[in-house]
Amino acid sequence: MKLAIATLLAAIHLASAQSPIYDYSQCLPGTAPSSSQSASAPAPTATGGSNGSGLPFLGGVNTAGYDFSVATNGSFTGPSSIPPASQYAHFAGQGANLFRIPWQEMTPTLGGSIDQSFFSTYDTTVQAALATGAYVIVDLHNYARWNGEVIGQGGPTNAQFASIWSQLAAEYASTEKIIFGVMNEPHDLPDGTADWAQSVQAAVTAIRQAGATSQIILIPGSSYSSAQTLPTEAGPDLLKVTDPAGGVGKLVFDVHKYLDSDNSGTHADCVTNNVQVLTTLVQWLQENGNRQALLSETGGGNTASCETDLGQELAYVKSNSDSIVGFSVWAAGAFATNYVLSVTPFPNGTDQPLWVQAVQPNLP
Ligand SMILES: *[C@@H]1O[C@H](CO)[C@@H](O)[C@H](O)[C@H]1NC(C)=O
Ligand SMILES: *[C@@H]1O[C@H](CO)[C@@H](O)[C@H](O)[C@H]1NC(C)=O
Ligand SMILES: *[C@@H]1O[C@H](CO)[C@@H](O)[C@H](O)[C@H]1NC(C)=O
Repeated sequence: MKLAIATLLAAIHLASAQSPIYDYSQCLPGTAPSSSQSASAPAPTATGGSNGSGLPFLGGVNTAGYDFSVATNGSFTGPSSIPPASQYAHFAGQGANLFRIPWQEMTPTLGGSIDQSFFSTYDTTVQAALATGAYVIVDLHNYARWNGEVIGQGGPTNAQFASIWSQLAAEYASTEKIIFGVMNEPHDLPDGTADWAQSVQAAVTAIRQAGATSQIILIPGSSYSSAQTLPTEAGPDLLKVTDPAGGVGKLVFDVHKYLDSDNSGTHADCVTNNVQVLTTLVQWLQENGNRQALLSETGGGNTASCETDLGQELAYVKSNSDSIVGFSVWAAGAFATNYVLSVTPFPNGTDQPLWVQAVQPNLP
């Protein structure tokens, strides 16, 4: 999500980024997906089948915090904010069965070993979420970048990218309910989406070779994982990604979509319920072997417009879960209760209005 990093890391992170953090191009007029490109996409060689992931309908929330801290040289300086573990039982008690836990820069040196001290802290959070019986998305929240440079496109090599996934997949190889979120919000890819799909393939192959052969892997496209541009931008390239474990049903497209005027997820008010965009996405998924997507970021302010629009969007997802297998709302965790998109519960244990009005009715 763009706001988290921009708001909390503005000075340090923006100083190191070569490309602008903000890119609202996915929401500008004239960028609506056309069907011409997807029509020319190759037919998938293996079908995802109907509900190819085998996942139940998933609904829940992003618990942010570990993604708040990163050094300008790209090294991770230690968790600045730990999502409160108590939130997992709180939300699971209402039916939530999906938690996405972002983190950044877990390897102090590029291509090196995971910092075991950081990993053990992160894993304590993951285990608290898993203890509720929920699925947990391990989300590498790096925008396809390291120190401002793009993976496989001038920055880290695909082998360096694969290395971190190899190490993490080994940690969770026998944990069935881990979902590997290969990368948060790739954007402004200088060499394009075909090259990016090769980076994704390197991560997928590394995860399987590390022994994590049964878990779901979320594969992200471009334009900040845009649900709107997937069918015409990165989707045709991502259809070529194969799964060494067999089939493609366990490769689920990772998509994001906000509801504010510029699709940035930075405004309190919503202007769309996204049903049109998601209908186009569902059609594309069905036409390409009944593949599936997961809406891993969406959300709005605690306002009447968002309560209505987000509620309609999530109801659409729930009733089309054969294709869009679930959602996680942005965001709770270490966010303050007055953050513009906050669904962090209040200290007295009650929930935010948006959560009560729009999310709760659409949980599994
Ligand atoms: C997908 O299939 C599994 C196994 O048959 C089933 O338990 C699950 O409810 C299905 N999920 C959806 C979203 O229909
Ligand atoms: C990156 O910066 C951090 C914080 O200043 C420092 O601790 C670390 O040693 C640096 N790493 C490299 C590889 O320069
Ligand atoms: C809980 O706190 C919130 C935020 O301060 C407040 O709006 C709400 O009325 C409180 N609820 C109860 C039951 O005290």
